[in-house]
Amino acid sequence: MVINMKVLTLNDIEKLVKKHGFNQFLQDLMVTIKEDYSNWNNFDKSSRHAIHVDGGVIELMPVADDKLYTYKYVNGHPRNTKENKLTITATGQISSVYDGYPLMYSEMTLLTAFRTAATSAVATDLMSRKNSQTLCLIGTGAQSEFQLLANILIRDIKIVKYFDTDIKAMEKFTKNIKAKNLPIELVQCSNPKDAILGADIVISCIADKAHVNAVMSEWVLPGTHINGIGGDCPGKTELELALLPRTKIAVEYLPQTMVEGEIQRLNKSDVEKLVKAEFWELVTGNKTLRTSNEDITLFDSVGFALEDFSVLRLVYELALKYNLGHDLDIIPELSDTKNLISLLD
Ligand SMILES: NC(=O)c1ccc[n+]([C@@H]2O[C@H](COP(=O)([O-])OP(=O)(O)OC[C@H]3O[C@@H](n4cnc5c(N)ncnc54)[C@H](O)[C@@H]3O)[C@@H](O)[C@H]2O)c1
Repeated sequence: MVINMKVLTLNDIEKLVKKHGFNQFLQDLMVTIKEDYSNWNNFDKSSRHAIHVDGGVIELMPVADDKLYTYKYVNGHPRNTKENKLTITATGQISSVYDGYPLMYSEMTLLTAFRTAATSAVATDLMSRKNSQTLCLIGTGAQSEFQLLANILIRDIKIVKYFDTDIKAMEKFTKNIKAKNLPIELVQCSNPKDAILGADIVISCIADKAHVNAVMSEWVLPGTHINGIGGDCPGKTELELALLPRTKIAVEYLPQTMVEGEIQRLNKSDVEKLVKAEFWELVTGNKTLRTSNEDITLFDSVGFALEDFSVLRLVYELALKYNLGHDLDIIPELSDTKNLISLLD
């Protein structure tokens, strides 16, 4: 006898997103992320466990409330794309806290792109000027289309300017977004300055394991909101250091971001001065980051386990609703639970 655990493959996630609708999935994910961040104090939280390896990092990201426990396994290897492999791949699990039994194991490479984009869109909603119309993307790799498609659900974006050091990545982005027939002007730029200058919202999502000045301070005008996505590991940042003192910063979970985010290069007193809020404080309305149209706001995102919790929680609900996934015999069910060896009879 066995108790089944649901397994969701890449193909199951594709089916689930199709059935539910791409935009509806993003919208529901934003609601779920806001619900979970609103319950911040009910979660058992910690910084993720990272093992730094040559050329990358491999991380485990656990979190739990009184009902559900989740973890994600994720890697980040910027050089992978040179061998036609993804920079980031991920898998994850959701379990019942009551008995500890696993409920579902899932692919999370796609789900990471979704949850990162949905979190970025919530940040845009909470921090950017309401009249933002021009969005800039620095880095048009795997995350980029998800970032744009989530952010346009939040603001009335009319122009998208973008730059990547790899022209093929920009052409791929242009082709993918053109195919969506959105009422948006696409401006492929030949340098980052042209892409950033005059943008209301800047999303920086490059992959390089170094301190890179992908966004220079002099290109960022007052009033800009920045979602800094790619600076998410010790020794891996993408905003010029001189930009940070000009910004009001929000982070997901300060102990983790101090080690991994753009703020890793600041001293403690500058962190105290510039970091105005954790994300949950903005979601609950306890604090406001932007107080004027001239403020430069920065969401120094590194990716927190709670966002994986949200996407796994939503996907588990939807997988049950649409009857998707494969039930695998992973957990033994025994008439005498102390007689485990009887499984081998
Ligand atoms: N904060 C989060 O929650 C979160 C989640 C997922 C990914 N990430 C990070 O986002 C980044 C992007 O991830 P991805 O999956 O899209 O990676 P990717 O490798 O698919 O794309 C990264 C792109 O950045 C480009 N690039 C590198 N250096 C550049 C530079 N100086 N200027 C402009 N473009 C440059 C590359 O050519 C590539 O096209 C990674 O650093 C990853 O670690 C963060």
